[in-house]
Amino acid sequence: MTLPHFIQLDHENAAATQAELAAGLLATAASIAPKYFYNALGSRLFDAITALPEYYPTRTEARIFDAHAADMAAQLPGGWPLIDLGAGNCAKAARLLGVLRPSRYVAVDISAAFLQDALGQLQRQHPDLPMVGVGMDFSHHLDLPLEAGDGPRLVFYPGSSIGNFTSEQAVDFLSQIRLAAQGGALLIGVDLLKPASLLVPAYDDALGVTAAFNRNMLLHLNQRLGSDFQVAQWQHIALFNQEASRIEMHLQAAQDLTVRWPGAERRFRAGERIHTENAYKYTLAQFEGLLREAGFVNTTHWSEALRHFAVFLARA
Ligand code: AVI
Repeated sequence: MTLPHFIQLDHENAAATQAELAAGLLATAASIAPKYFYNALGSRLFDAITALPEYYPTRTEARIFDAHAADMAAQLPGGWPLIDLGAGNCAKAARLLGVLRPSRYVAVDISAAFLQDALGQLQRQHPDLPMVGVGMDFSHHLDLPLEAGDGPRLVFYPGSSIGNFTSEQAVDFLSQIRLAAQGGALLIGVDLLKPASLLVPAYDDALGVTAAFNRNMLLHLNQRLGSDFQVAQWQHIALFNQEASRIEMHLQAAQDLTVRWPGAERRFRAGERIHTENAYKYTLAQFEGLLREAGFVNTTHWSEALRHFAVFLARA
């Protein structure tokens, strides 16, 4: 049996992380990047979110793959490396390996250590498929290592994570994906624009799991920055910004308070917010436009009856 190979490209630079977090907290409109949701607890809370009745994207995307994966595969030559961006537990790609028949499976996530268990298990199910786990922060730059395979690649970016970039950042990132695909293709999941009455509950569920996910960012900041956030003083806010076509998540101070960390502090007035995430929602035509701007061609998509979510396939 082949064994998975692991590479860690970006090593954590604690000083740079602390500087980035402090700059976000000290900005007039405070903000923290959504990648800071994902400490060990945050990743488990996100998994729980995907099982919530209100959070339709994960199961809708899974249904689209179940119904159309063979059709998607029929449009691809097969035998390309499959590059799974933000692979996590590798579950989504695992369901497609049989039908896509890649030459190797390359799971990319922020930490190669996160991929170890999932990739080890998957390797037992596909003993002859070369597998590589790459630890890298691809949110700024997608520079894949040689181990990702040479020639055309199929880049897989499910889950609508592209919605967490602004449209300009999305075009920039899609352009980088196009280059990394080396003449291959992109298979990407995109959450579609729909009424706020469906969108807001998906980010503000009745059980309060998304609230816990958002507020856990403060515990993560306490670990990484040495800050003294008290979670109970912060409320979860999720709203739909119609003009920008995006869900926004914020943490709102419930009272006047001061947050301190080594070397600095920030006073927040009651009602002041820290912006933690945007999730842009696109129409089919808008997202096709972004793919075109990024240089992709021959775009096709699959959706379901309610047009809640779409999977696009585009040639690099
Ligand atoms: C990871 N990303 C696509 C999720 C989303 O829907 O934007 C993150 C999330 N935030 C709150 N709930 C889920």
